[in-house]
Formats: sequence, C-alpha cells, structure tokens
Amino acid sequence: MADFTVLVDAAVTEEEAIQLIRDSLGMGVVLDTWMNGEQEEDISPDALEGLAEAERARVESALAMGAVLAPSNVLPAVHEIVMATALYRAQQRKGRRVVDRADVADALERVDAFVGQQRLGWIALRTLYLIISAHEDFNALAYYGSMRLDDFLMGNLHRPWSDGVFRTQLAHYQRLGLVSVDFRGQGDMVMLTDGGRAVLDQLRRILERSGELAWRAEAQRWTVFGELNYDAVAAKIFPGFNDRTRDYLSSVEVQPGMQVLEVGCGTGRVTIDLGLAQQVGDTGRVVALDPARTLLDHLEGKREAAGITNVQVVQGRAEQLPFPDDTFDVTIAVVSLHFTDVEQAVAEMARVTKPGGLVTAWCPPPETDVRRIPMVALWFRPLVELADRWGLPFGDRNGLPPGSLEAAFRRHLSSVRYDSSIPTYVSAADPDSFLAFVLKGGAFFQNLLCRVPYADRWQLIHRLETMGRELVRYTDPHEQLATYQTEAAYGRAPAARNKRESENTSQEAIVT
Ligand SMILES: C[S@@+](CC[C@H](N)C(=O)[O-])C[C@H]1O[C@@H](n2cnc3c(N)ncnc32)[C@H](O)[C@@H]1O
Repeated sequence: MADFTVLVDAAVTEEEAIQLIRDSLGMGVVLDTWMNGEQEEDISPDALEGLAEAERARVESALAMGAVLAPSNVLPAVHEIVMATALYRAQQRKGRRVVDRADVADALERVDAFVGQQRLGWIALRTLYLIISAHEDFNALAYYGSMRLDDFLMGNLHRPWSDGVFRTQLAHYQRLGLVSVDFRGQGDMVMLTDGGRAVLDQLRRILERSGELAWRAEAQRWTVFGELNYDAVAAKIFPGFNDRTRDYLSSVEVQPGMQVLEVGCGTGRVTIDLGLAQQVGDTGRVVALDPARTLLDHLEGKREAAGITNVQVVQGRAEQLPFPDDTFDVTIAVVSLHFTDVEQAVAEMARVTKPGGLVTAWCPPPETDVRRIPMVALWFRPLVELADRWGLPFGDRNGLPPGSLEAAFRRHLSSVRYDSSIPTYVSAADPDSFLAFVLKGGAFFQNLLCRVPYADRWQLIHRLETMGRELVRYTDPHEQLATYQTEAAYGRAPAARNKRESENTSQEAIVT
C-alpha cells in the first residue's frame, strides 16, 4: 500500500510529520491554501527588495541536503512558504494582508528558526511543502475525478498561489505511481491511482491531526473579520444580542475600583459599548485581551473616540494569559471561549484572578445546526449534498463540546454555578452577513470547504451569496430565524496555593 513517505522521500513517520506541522504552525511558518478573504493582497515593492537573493541562499542550503524537487523548483517552494508566512504575519500584526519589508524579514527569520529547530533541517521545510501542496493536488483530483493536463499544470483551479512547480511535481507523482496521465476523449487527463487515493487519505489525516485544517479556519476567520464591519454583521446575525449580553452582564458583580480582565474582547462591544469600563470607574481598570489585531484596532478607535482612559488593550490568547497570578478581581469571557482550548483557558483565567474573585464565561450553544433556520435549510442544500457525497457531518461544531465548559469550571474553580438555558436568536435575514460569518469565515464548514479546491470553493461561496439574496425575498421573517440555548458558567478563583503552576507570567505582552 502506498504511503506518504514515498512522496516526501524522507525518513519521517506519520507521527513525526504531524509534529513537524504542529511545530511550523506554532512558529507561524505556513503555506496558506485559503489565501485570503476577498480584498487584494498588497505587497510593497520595497518588501521584495533583496528577497530573491535571500531565498536563493536558502535554496542552496536546501539543495545541499538533497531536494526531491528539481533545483529550479525549490526556489518557488521556498518563496511560497516565505510569502505565505509574511502575509500571515502582516494579517496578525496589522489586521490586513499588507506586506512590508519588516514582514518579509520576520518571515525569513521564522523560516530559519523553524529549519534550525528541526532534526531534518531544510528537509523539514521541503516535507512541509510537499505534504500541503500534494494534499491540494490530490484533493483536487479526487474532487474532479480527473483534470485536464493543462488545468493541472496551470494550477488555476486548485493552487493559484503556486508558480511553476507543477510539471516537476507531476512527474514525481507519476514516477511514484500515485497519479496517472491518460489520453481520454479531448486530451490528456490527470487522475489519481488507488495508491494516490490511499496517500490522500493519509495526508488528510495528517492535516486534521496536526491542527492544520483548524489553523486554516482560524486564519481565514481573522482575514474575513478584518474585512467586515464586525459589529454591524454580529448585530444582524444575532438580533437582540446586546440586550441578552446586558442581561448576562447584570449577573456579574463589577464594582467601581475593580481590576477586570475581558478575555476575547473583540471590538470592545462589552468593554466599551456596553459599559464595562464605565462600571469600574476612574479608580478601576479593564484589561481587554484578544489575539486579533484588526478587532483590537476597532476597540482602540472606540476608546479614543469616547476619551476612555481606564482601558488597557493587550494582544494575547486566553490559553497563555500574559499576567501574573492573582491580578484581577473579575475575569470575564463573552462568547470567546469556544475559540480556545477551554481547559487551558479556564485554568489561566483562574490563575490570574485574585483568590475568591469571580471568573465567568458566556458561550454560544454547544449545538448550532444552522438548518434549524428554515430558510437556511433550503439555502444550504449544496453544502448538504457535499456532506452526503463524502459521508461527512454537515457542519463543524462551533460551540464548545457539550459539558466541557462546566467541567473546566468545576476543575479549576470553586462555588461553580452553571446555566444552559439562556436563549439567543440567530438570523439569516441579512444573507450576506450570515454567509460571511458562518461560511466565508470558515468557521462552521471547514470540514467540507477544505475538500473543495480553491476556485470551486469561492464559486460555491458566491453562488450561495446569490441564492441567499433571492431566498430572503421569498421567505417570511419567522422562517429566517431560530432560537438556540447558550450557556454561562460562574466560579470563584481558588487560593493562590491551589492554583496550577504557570510558566506564562514571563510572557511578553503587547500592550496598547
Ligand atoms: C464572537 S467574538 C466576541 C467578542 C466580544 N467578547 C463580544 O462579545 O463582542 C470572539 C472573540 O474571541 C477571540 N478569540 C479567538 N481565539 C481566541 C483565543 N485563543 N483567546 C482569546 N480570544 C480569542 C476572537 O478574536 C474574537 O474577538
């Protein structure tokens, strides 16, 4: 039976390949196959100055270690990874895919650090490239059944970000018996062999288990959110959401003078718009933390406009809070923990909260089958068909796994209270907003979308956009809406000696 190791031609087991991808993602070294939202990427000419030379030097090292790809094709491979890494960094730092010199320098540094850390050195980078690009190639062949040789070689349908490596890679796949090229009817067609299909299954497993598919969804979500007016979109999809949030906030005791942490603050809906900052008053302080630079920029804009001085913004993640133990009186997370590793996030929230202080989180429903909205059941039929065709579940889980929020609270906090009966509305009455949130953002349907090659994925999204605008005219308002039950948890932080040891306090925080 064919095995992916023939493809990468390196002594790497499946477990090692998974670890290699985890390491690369951890260091932000990526090959982005979603590419972007819908706005043009912008790479300044200045950013590219000297890049070719820097890449050539790295290619020399790669070749010295024996590359599977021909020398002329190693350069595009290194270039793809460096540029994807630079674009990802730009998105993270500035909230937009606008690359300048510093992003490219940063990307080169990251690539070098990754290569330096790996037992296989440059071969690790090549392995990363081959796993991800072969996955896209084989996935497209499985999706279309067969592809015209020209289409495959141009990569327009499935790898528009690649430039010029296809012929060598195809020859490589053919030599290994994973792909065949046969003359059929109108011309040469490229197809997967049985061996190729077995390798595709393995590649899918590697990307799933390494978290690469989850990473794609997250990177895509931030790109799309960066291109939207997030507050306006959220207000359309969740009617009455601010009122529901006010109800929840009224159950959280925040007093003047308190130090409060909001985890996953987004655009500052809670901290600024709904008045958390006001509640702590001039003598108190709210620290608003989020990983997404774009959303924090919005928050800072609001903070400035309102002349608020008691809010500090920190770019960071719930799982590694960059604060010492026992810092806050209250720590709160509003519809953000479902994006985190909840166990780590709650442990961290408990750690940074003073003994006896309140830790609380409000989360979206553990179950969100969007077909409960009658209009969406009709609208999303193309997605249902894809799920049926591949025998996959219809949607990804968006909320936390059932029971996990309460369990994490009980493990890390005392006097825990849990409530799973807080209703919230989800509406498709504004189809563009709905689609941006649940589909373009890759949040709910990544398991399906990752099997649709690049060009068809965007075509599908645009077809659904047109269908949505039609359907909303032919359905009644009550058919565009459903109620879901959200969940909230409350607990008290334990005494300092009962808190878990943390290595995170020394972490560098970006405070603005
Ligand atoms: C639905 S928004 C909620 C924002 C805000 N709390 C509100 O209620 O409007 C979810 C937020 O969680 C953030 N988030 C995603 N991953 C996170 C992580 N690992 N740690 C903390 N926040 C995260 C997102 O960037 C986003 O701002």
